[in-house]
Amino acid sequence: MDIFSKIESYFGPLGKYMEQAHGYYMFPKLEGEISNRMIFMGKERLVWSLNNYLGLANHPVIRKTDAEAAQKWGMAYPMGARMMSGQTKYHEELEHKLAAFVKKESAYLLNYGYQGMVSIIDSLVDRRDVIVYDSEAHACILDGMRLHIGKRFVYPHNNMENLEKGLERATKLVQVSGGGILVITEGVYGMAGDLGKLKQITDFKKKYNFRLLVDDAHGFGTMGETGAGTAEFLGVQDKVDLYFGTFAKAMAGFGGFIAGDKKVIDFLMYNMRSQIYAKSLPMPMVIGALKRLEMLQNEPEHKQKLWTIVNALQSGLKAKEFNLGETESPVTPVFFKGGIPEATQATKELRENYNVFCSIVTYPVVPKDVIMLRLIPTAVHTLEDVDYTIKAFSAIKENLDAGKYSDGKIAGMVVN
Ligand SMILES: Cc1ncc(COP(=O)(O)O)c(C=O)c1O
Repeated sequence: MDIFSKIESYFGPLGKYMEQAHGYYMFPKLEGEISNRMIFMGKERLVWSLNNYLGLANHPVIRKTDAEAAQKWGMAYPMGARMMSGQTKYHEELEHKLAAFVKKESAYLLNYGYQGMVSIIDSLVDRRDVIVYDSEAHACILDGMRLHIGKRFVYPHNNMENLEKGLERATKLVQVSGGGILVITEGVYGMAGDLGKLKQITDFKKKYNFRLLVDDAHGFGTMGETGAGTAEFLGVQDKVDLYFGTFAKAMAGFGGFIAGDKKVIDFLMYNMRSQIYAKSLPMPMVIGALKRLEMLQNEPEHKQKLWTIVNALQSGLKAKEFNLGETESPVTPVFFKGGIPEATQATKELRENYNVFCSIVTYPVVPKDVIMLRLIPTAVHTLEDVDYTIKAFSAIKENLDAGKYSDGKIAGMVVN
């Protein structure tokens, strides 16, 4: 059989929606300067879809720093992987500063958070070890686990009773195998904005012997008094063994880092295959990340502005009786009753009649009869944006409740 022939019948879990969704719901093109207003299909829209939490993406100081670093170093330097020829004192400086910021002994840069996470997991575990993880773990965690040839137990999202059962079973297994236990959770869950129960999870350390890895992609820079993340917010920074952050969200760049005890970070540095066999972060990103970190630490106004918008948006929506689930972070999910037809119609109406651009999440990420529209507030949104959006959402809710979207038609809508 031709390996390509199966493509004819199945295009994959997301690809099967390509025909209806491409360019609109999936792979939309947002054009213009990264901000609260961008161009989508030729029209200006109010955008709530970017993880530019602190508004640094287009900050003049950041734009200048990035441009000057590109001018000075180019995009190529340093050539090669860190281990071979891609090491610089700037990479090391950034690692020292990140480690100090998140209160760990040591840190190591990752050329992409995703690849880094895959290799962190792959490096740490062997066939004797057991991984216990949350059912809503990000794809990079699941992909890291695919490489694990030992046992793994999943617990239903944030269900601490089930986590404990997993820890009991894992403990019995490693008593025989001689391995160890790795627990993996997220800090902020990026879809629904709720937090990993880091306090309860770390409390289990009194009873069970395990190490905890926290993926805080959405919490780094947004949560905690200094912005050092969800573990800081929940007061358990010292009980998290490995803290993972990305530069792709609050830092508005790319790349990421892992932080922990020096010995463990040294081990990862010498064992993470996605880092050993891939190019080092280019200099403009390293210089840019140093500047972003400096701003994050010395200019609390960005985080304050973010939270002003978050609080206004979330309290405004709640006052209108919208269901925001369990969010405790800037990520703002709005749950409605309905299926995929209603979800796509509602999103289309928001985009076309209200010029509000947000992301849509449907089954299987949420249950079959639930629609989730996800809003990501940032420091560059305004309180007027918040008011306008709450009004638009109220109109959508009225239509949904009246069953106006179930027939697939939206009156007065113009879609190019
Ligand atoms: C929870 C989580 N982990 C990891 C990643 C991957 O990070 P990166 O974009 O740096 O590869 C993301 C983001 O996209 C994420 O949301």
